[in-house]
Amino acid sequence: MSKVKIGRAADLEEGGTLTFQFTRNGKPTDGFLARFHGELVAYENRCRHLPLKLDYDDGRFFSRDGNHFLCQTHNAIYEPLTGLCVQGPCEGESLKSLKIEVIKGYIWLVLD
Ligand code: FES
Repeated sequence: MSKVKIGRAADLEEGGTLTFQFTRNGKPTDGFLARFHGELVAYENRCRHLPLKLDYDDGRFFSRDGNHFLCQTHNAIYEPLTGLCVQGPCEGESLKSLKIEVIKGYIWLVLD
């Protein structure tokens, strides 16, 4: 198990997001953090429809109403707290969640 520091919890306000990269099995992998309803969540930044990032490298993950994550390519809609796609071409599938821990105000990505 290894841990990678990815940011400060205090920097992520409600509705805020932060993208990061990490290495998994020797491959660079994109991830994102978000705060929704006070909770911090982290997922691989990879849509379940096609292997594309949800954002267009602009850090925009939330839908206009702020209630869901939205894939900008074909508009798949995901629940922020579970990662479940509730509408769109990959409905019923889920974003890959990433394990995080907050220690002394810093957010750490925990890799198996
Ligand atoms: S790539 Fe995300 S909905 Fe098609």
